[in-house]
Amino acid sequence: MQTGDYTISDDPNRLDPVAVHAYLTRSYWSPGVSLETVGRAMGHSLCLGIYHQGAQVGYARVVTDKTTFAYLADVYVLEAHRGQGLSKRLIEAVQSHPDLQGLRRFLLATRDAHSLYAQFGFKPLANPTRMMEVLNPDAHLGR
Ligand SMILES: CC(C)(COP(=O)(O)OP(=O)(O)OC[C@H]1O[C@@H](n2cnc3c(N)ncnc32)[C@H](O)[C@@H]1OP(=O)(O)O)[C@@H](O)C(=O)NCCC(=O)NCCS
Repeated sequence: MQTGDYTISDDPNRLDPVAVHAYLTRSYWSPGVSLETVGRAMGHSLCLGIYHQGAQVGYARVVTDKTTFAYLADVYVLEAHRGQGLSKRLIEAVQSHPDLQGLRRFLLATRDAHSLYAQFGFKPLANPTRMMEVLNPDAHLGR
């Protein structure tokens, strides 16, 4: 998908693990994450990148069975490219991806971007008491 000077693609061969790691290791959700962990998660997920002049400037990673369930993670746009609708184009590309149609549940977690995802139909959990988790937010450290 082309949007102005930017390309959004699900081509795994275009992904730049070093660029993605450079952002994720300074993100609020996975500070200090290793390149190995970023690459391994990337390799086992459905990933979309945003590209500008040959460089990867944005990312979204979807953990999914491509049938019933998906979890959206690691969404970012580099600072120099923010504020021009790129994350919205990225989420549109995720939602229209052929492998992500007819899902029963699409989850995500966010600290402060609720109003971004609300524009795409994401809502607070309808029945939070039915959901459980094993949470280890520092699991990525030291790997
Ligand atoms: C969040 C982020 C991806 C937005 O990227 P962007 O390309 O600059 O955003 P867009 O230009 O597509 O606009 C996003 C829209 O969501 C809104 N929004 C809601 N929460 C936001 C947030 N935390 N940060 C940025 N925009 C936010 C914006 O106001 C804007 O609203 P609009 O449609 O009324 O204009 C980017 O700021 C980023 O990478 N932030 C750091 C990483 C992060 O927080 N990722 C999300 C983790 S869940």
